[in-house]
Amino acid sequence: MSRHLLVTGGAGFIGSNFVHHVLARTDHTVTVLDKLTYAGHRASLDGLPVERVRLVVGDVADAAVVDPLVAEADAVVHFAAESHNDNSLGDPTPFLHTNLVGTFTLLEAVRRHGTRLHHVSTDEVYGDLALDDPQRFTEATPYNPSSPYSATKAGSDLLVRAWVRSFGISATLSNCSNNYGPRQHVEKFIPRQITNLLDGVRPRLYGAGLNVRDWIHAEDHSSAVLRILEAGQSGRTYLIGADGERSNKEVVEMILRLMGRDPGDYDHVIDRAGHDLRYAIDATPLRQELGWSPQFRDFEAGLAATIDWYRDHEAWWRPQKAATEAKYAEAGQ
Ligand code: NAD
Ligand code: DAU
Repeated sequence: MSRHLLVTGGAGFIGSNFVHHVLARTDHTVTVLDKLTYAGHRASLDGLPVERVRLVVGDVADAAVVDPLVAEADAVVHFAAESHNDNSLGDPTPFLHTNLVGTFTLLEAVRRHGTRLHHVSTDEVYGDLALDDPQRFTEATPYNPSSPYSATKAGSDLLVRAWVRSFGISATLSNCSNNYGPRQHVEKFIPRQITNLLDGVRPRLYGAGLNVRDWIHAEDHSSAVLRILEAGQSGRTYLIGADGERSNKEVVEMILRLMGRDPGDYDHVIDRAGHDLRYAIDATPLRQELGWSPQFRDFEAGLAATIDWYRDHEAWWRPQKAATEAKYAEAGQ
């Protein structure tokens, strides 16, 4: 059945991958609401059928913009956020605005119009695990966020849950692990190292590089969100992950190898304050109850394709690169 989706943050990394995924696999139409901050790119929506997708440039915390868009939508998928931990350590202000006030604004519109909502969140709300902890995050893991970014995402999740319980809105939530793939901002770990190498600069590893992230391709995150939108139970939280745990050191060495360089050819830099050690997702309910499974099971092949994407799309990332590196240089990273 054809539906009209409002996708907030659809010009960002995962939001744009989701919009491409939905337009290729359904006959839905999409309105993207995106403020086009430093992290949003109009070009990330290039090549999509213009009769099925429309971009509205605006703030998710602006009720006058949000309300009519929610009123006309059959469902809302909420990706818009300030998403980078390092930025949240430098200035938390926009994180509170977008992640908390933005989510609140959307919830009020959803409540007024009875529109179905899917809220996209992160595994970082659970804090971190020891490297040798046999347990992984599940829906029952208590919230314990570490950074201003993850604290605002945790707050946004709790707002959604409260609106379900107190006002009876129809909403699902998902908490996903670290994404990689095309159109990710060069501030993030994998694109930063790839584009550094393309520029002849050595990769930078925070601290000893032993921190573990549970990598999933953005395409698999998208298919999971679409599945939850179609079949998820209101009020439920679904954890999304693809059993992709790797240390940062392993990832940087793999990037170097795939780009024809010596795997030891990187530098250690100052560690991130409050740096979470390890994330790991148990996605059993999503797999067993909703029948979802990831398509990108070979991380090395997915990474090689991602490297090719950055090699082939310099015009997309180049405008962001110098300012991003200048900010890292100031922090000694
Ligand atoms: P991103 O930074 O690449 O994109 C965020 C998008 O939101 C941008 O297009 C930006 O312009 C837009 N935006 C920011 N503030 C806005 C505002 N006030 N109003 C409207 N639009 C605004 O982020 P991403 O990595 O694609 O993450 C998207 C969502 O997925 C976030 O909610 C994030 O918490 C969540 N998430 C990300 C990951 C990951 O690995 N990147 C993993 C799990 C969950
Ligand atoms: O787990 C999901 C989260 O993953 C999302 O909620 C966030 O939006 C997303 O940014 C990501 O958070 P991380 O902080 O894990 O991602 P980041 O790409 O910033 O860093 C990944 C790891 O690499 C982390 O341990 C820090 C490290 N790192 C990062 C950079 C930029 C480095 O060692 N060197 C670097 O240059």
